[in-house]
Amino acid sequence: MIRRGAEAEIRRDVWMGRNVLIKSRIPKTYRHPTLDRSLRAHRTKMEARLLQEARSCGVPTPIVYDIDLEKAELCMQEIDGPRVKDALATASKEEVRRICQEIGRMVARMHGHGMTHGDLTTSNMIMEDERIWFIDLSLGTKAASMEEMGVDLHLLKEAFQSTHSDMLYAYDMIVETYAQELPRGREVLAKVKDIEERGRYA
Ligand SMILES: Nc1ncnc2c1ncn2[C@@H]1O[C@H](COP(=O)(O)OP(=O)(O)O)[C@@H](O)[C@H]1O
Ligand SMILES: [Mg+2]
Repeated sequence: MIRRGAEAEIRRDVWMGRNVLIKSRIPKTYRHPTLDRSLRAHRTKMEARLLQEARSCGVPTPIVYDIDLEKAELCMQEIDGPRVKDALATASKEEVRRICQEIGRMVARMHGHGMTHGDLTTSNMIMEDERIWFIDLSLGTKAASMEEMGVDLHLLKEAFQSTHSDMLYAYDMIVETYAQELPRGREVLAKVKDIEERGRYA
């Protein structure tokens, strides 16, 4: 096993002679067993769909080789590189700029195709050969509203505030590129501001 999170376990395996990663959703004993099974199956199916959807928009995501709804498991390509979370911590100024511009470009691309990621944090992005790969899309949406896109960026900003508090300028670089790439990008950024203000006065 290479990682165990709150929701899922990640382990290496071999599938049809190929080295793969298995993401397995862990049963939650506090949920009713039937509900738990259907929830894990649903998230697994959504994640497979959204990984595929993002990939078909030109956003790098792991290839999904197989899916087992009974076990709530996805069998996918392993992306071999550091998480953006770790890469940013040691990157030079120029690298930070390049990484941020690439994140901005890819998020704009997803939103431009009407989808959201649902959990945009730098732990859910992996760097491999100059590209940023996106993983963990089970909370994403299709046919997203401007509000949902705003929530996506708001979560990204919060992730920067908690994980990269010494480099908030990096978030600004991301949204600068985002707004250049997405025709309605400024409108989404206005939504982010609304969301923040609602949070402040709620
Ligand atoms: N396809 C993949 N290639 C490489 N690493 C991965 C892949 N999928 C998951 N991981 C690693 O496992 C961690 C947890 O996976 P993730 O899908 O984000 O599940 P969780 O819902 O537990 O956050 C990621 O942060 C990443 O380090
Ligand atoms: Mg994750």
